[in-house]
Amino acid sequence: MAITLEELRQQFHEQLRQANAAEAFEDLRVRYLGKKGEITGLLRNMGALAPEKRKEYGAKVNALKEEAEMSIKKRIEEAHARELELKIAATERYDLTLPSTLSEGSYHPITLVQREVEQIFASMGFTIEDYDEIVDDYHCFEALNIPKHHPARDMQDTYYLSNGQLLKTHTSAAQNAIMRKYGAPLRAIFPGRCFRNESTDACHENTFFQMEGIMIDENISISNLIYFMKTMLSEVFQRDVKVRLRPGFFPFVEPGFELDISCAICGGKGCPSCKNSGWLELCPCGMIHPNVLKAGGIDTEKYTGFAFGLGLTRLAMMKYGIKDIRDLNSGNLRSLNQFVK
Ligand code: DAH
Repeated sequence: MAITLEELRQQFHEQLRQANAAEAFEDLRVRYLGKKGEITGLLRNMGALAPEKRKEYGAKVNALKEEAEMSIKKRIEEAHARELELKIAATERYDLTLPSTLSEGSYHPITLVQREVEQIFASMGFTIEDYDEIVDDYHCFEALNIPKHHPARDMQDTYYLSNGQLLKTHTSAAQNAIMRKYGAPLRAIFPGRCFRNESTDACHENTFFQMEGIMIDENISISNLIYFMKTMLSEVFQRDVKVRLRPGFFPFVEPGFELDISCAICGGKGCPSCKNSGWLELCPCGMIHPNVLKAGGIDTEKYTGFAFGLGLTRLAMMKYGIKDIRDLNSGNLRSLNQFVK
């Protein structure tokens, strides 16, 4: 008995389901759709049909032809995709149960020093604040008693942006916002990245880190400043650090100082590292200028305060004996991953 169209359809799909290689798909195409193919053959039988049925039958056979063609095409595409997947899987093999052969990462020396100093100040009741790297002229200069055309602005080679803002040249730029945020009494440190348009050498970088600190309360004096700096630095260097103050000028403090620490290498006797003075310059500081307190909304009748601008980059170099500041921003893992904690 001649096979019906529907039976042929089912037979084709069954064989296609079982086919699993490129040649098998091609065989099926020839077997069903070739010149002597089984579906094509159905058209040849049309002559036996009554003329009014031929049109409908022809359309059905053509629809089956199209269906068979599409089905074979789809299977070929699927087979290609699977082949590709297998190829990728063969080149990238992951065995999540294998122990790692990669060495552990390490913290950047500046991060290490920063965290250490943060911890020490936090234990003395200071809050740790974050502040923007892009600031405006008011916060970086004006609010710090550095009016326009003040010669102190020459000390800072500022990167100005086209919109009039600038990259902060010192962490002092956050003082005003933090005073306004908390009011007095206040103890805060705020580490940050600073930028100055300097030509670089072993001691200078255009990008470096500072940590600013301010303490504002009733009766704050220079002895508070000395006490906090000495305690913090003795912790960082793990020895009893001696400090001394020399006068220094900064428009936002009055009086202003340069704080030196006793040289650890020679114990204060004098050596090439400290240029035979026995002291190393570490941190500018001073008593906050009343204009700066006022700009920050602090009552200057009641409160006084100290501020310091610790060079975190410099501190990291001293602590780890790093000779060239450029190593710190180099991304050179051979030099940076020595500092695994
Ligand atoms: N902002 C100053 C600078 O980077 C450093 C500084 C000096 C900060 C004295 C202070 C300070 O808080 O009291 O040049």
